[in-house]
Amino acid sequence: MAKKAIYDDVKFFNNYIDLRNKEFNYNDMIEQPIVFDLIGSVQDKTVLDLGCGYGAMTVKLANAGAKKVIGVDVSEKMIEKGIKENPHANVEYRVMAAENLSEINEKYDTVVSCLAIHYINDIYKLFRDVYGILNSRGEFVFSMEHPSYTACKVSQKWVTDPENGLVTGFVMDHYGEEGVRKIEWLGKTITKYHHKTATVINALIEAGFVLEKVVEPSPDKKMMENVPKTVHELHRPAYLIIKCKKG
Ligand SMILES: C[S@@+](CC[C@H](N)C(=O)[O-])C[C@H]1O[C@@H](n2cnc3c(N)ncnc32)[C@H](O)[C@@H]1O
Repeated sequence: MAKKAIYDDVKFFNNYIDLRNKEFNYNDMIEQPIVFDLIGSVQDKTVLDLGCGYGAMTVKLANAGAKKVIGVDVSEKMIEKGIKENPHANVEYRVMAAENLSEINEKYDTVVSCLAIHYINDIYKLFRDVYGILNSRGEFVFSMEHPSYTACKVSQKWVTDPENGLVTGFVMDHYGEEGVRKIEWLGKTITKYHHKTATVINALIEAGFVLEKVVEPSPDKKMMENVPKTVHELHRPAYLIIKCKKG
């Protein structure tokens, strides 16, 4: 029997939704606007959103004029929520694991993926599969947790000044050891995969992609004013965001 997806665990799912419903969350304030800008115009384009969750980006792209957007995610609960809360005439949601992407027979102008790729072990295969479902000159834009962050095996440790309690840095550990990580997040132990930045870039190049833009965002002034603790994020990049094109 297939293993239950972590986002189908009720407690984890509810905690994740609470996080996303916060007024100032990293996804809405930092990550999704950058991905959306990098994608550019989707007018009359066909798009696949890989690891679409409940369809936040999926429906945004349909509203921006995409002809067809397919949202795929391994979590039934996420897809259920997407169908219920983010429906659109040009959107179709499918429960499907990214590992099975090569089973898709259609081709798309754009593949987008927001914060799902750090859940994938074999990114060499994934990127080949993404390449395979893109039309010629098709684009792939994705964000993932930054490798300086996924590296951490022991825990994610901020360095604090004992005098005043201020955060002065971030301790990264095990960067050179790629592979599985068991991390405590939102009340559960979850499995992610650490890939070095060089591995991510080389896997894209090996698949045949041409890199167009790499972004390691920092919180902006507005975010730091609204959520002061985000100033800590200046010590490490939280996300790696890449735009590339089918060569
Ligand atoms: C952090 S959420 C992001 C959701 C959505 N992309 C967004 O940004 O709103 C990560 C998503 O990746 C999905 N995911 C994790 N592993 C996956 C896999 N192997 N195949 C497809 N989706 C996966 C999860 O179910 C979850 O919905």
